[in-house]
Amino acid sequence: MPKMTFIERNGEQREVDAPLGLSVLEVAHKHGVDLEGACEGSLACSTCHVIVAPDWFDRLKRPSEDEEDMLDVAFGLQKTSRLGCQIVMTEALDGLTVSLPPSKKAG
Ligand code: FES
Repeated sequence: MPKMTFIERNGEQREVDAPLGLSVLEVAHKHGVDLEGACEGSLACSTCHVIVAPDWFDRLKRPSEDEEDMLDVAFGLQKTSRLGCQIVMTEALDGLTVSLPPSKKAG
């Protein structure tokens, strides 16, 4: 089974099983990673925002226009930001690493 790594807000890395066909958001929820995903993947929020490791960013399918629009309003946007609900695990993404963005609530 493919694996992926989440880098939590405190810098801790968590490598978890990432079943094929699940989105990064679903993988996060399965393992209790603190990624919100308020709209459950229907591209109506940006709370599933993750920052993809630069090495991996180019290997992902390009975001749809709707995703880009949502990303524009995401908090803490970075060059390799994506919406976690739009990245679906494939064999090719085995080892994918994403960071959780800074939390709005923190500080
Ligand atoms: Fe709302 Fe991804 S969960 S856009």
